[in-house]
Amino acid sequence: MSTNIAGKVVVITGASSGLGEATARLLSAEGATVALGARRVDRIDSLVEELAAGGTKALAVMTDVTHFDQVKRLVDSAVHANGRIDVMLNNAGLMPHSPLERLKIDDWDRMIDVNVRGVLYGIAAALPYMKEQKAGHIINVSSVAGHKVRPGGVVYAATKHAVRVITEGLRMEVKPYNIRTTIISPGAVATELVDNITEPDIRDGVRKMTEGIALPAETFARMVAFAISQPDDVDVNEILFRPTRQEL
Ligand SMILES: NC(=O)c1ccc[n+]([C@@H]2O[C@H](COP(=O)([O-])OP(=O)(O)OC[C@H]3O[C@@H](n4cnc5c(N)ncnc54)[C@H](OP(=O)(O)O)[C@@H]3O)[C@@H](O)[C@H]2O)c1
Repeated sequence: MSTNIAGKVVVITGASSGLGEATARLLSAEGATVALGARRVDRIDSLVEELAAGGTKALAVMTDVTHFDQVKRLVDSAVHANGRIDVMLNNAGLMPHSPLERLKIDDWDRMIDVNVRGVLYGIAAALPYMKEQKAGHIINVSSVAGHKVRPGGVVYAATKHAVRVITEGLRMEVKPYNIRTTIISPGAVATELVDNITEPDIRDGVRKMTEGIALPAETFARMVAFAISQPDDVDVNEILFRPTRQEL
């Protein structure tokens, strides 16, 4: 049975760890060609080597999603090498939680730049090609925090709500071009996300909260594969999933 994944050209931002890396592996195993972007180029280079050794086509481009020219270079490289882009997975993100009163303005700026601007830049880089092709699929990564806000996670929640708003607006605007859009909102998944919380007490608290319940990153990859693998006339607009034991 065809999975509707084999042969597709999939661009993934934030592919150097966690959800992006797991998705690159799973989609490659299903026969997709992947183009990987992240700042830690050594990691995506070795992933490309590993995937290529397994017989699938892959490329890596050092990409900081806060610079539009770099996101465009990633997407352009994928199209140049493969003649098209089928899926844009805007996954790069960070979650340096802290209460607003600690005034961690640098962390706020980084979240806005990566989680919101980065997603918009991914859309801007992929959309012209998808319009021209009259086909494509843009998948943006939100979070449970895109549905709920809680103390200590206000700015992160704001960015992830923004991702859902942008994606739903995009869905309506791209109807004439036969482009699919999907929001994926994960609950706790075991990745490096928590390690990048800059306030040690908050980091320890989040670690404790997710310990023993966080799902493996492959869970997310399967959600991406599910959305992509639907027949072309089926648009999976939103997926929200959590560990069964997650309360929030
Ligand atoms: N894990 C969870 O529980 C969870 C839950 C809900 C939503 N999410 C979302 O899932 C996405 C992936 O996170 P993850 O859990 O896989 O965390 P992760 O392991 O920390 O991965 C984050 C990825 O984003 C990349 N990134 C960060 N800043 C970047 C920048 N300026 N330019 C390009 N890439 C950048 C990182 O690559 P480099 O550092 O190499 O650039 C890395 O590959 C994020 O959007 C996150 O908000 C995660």
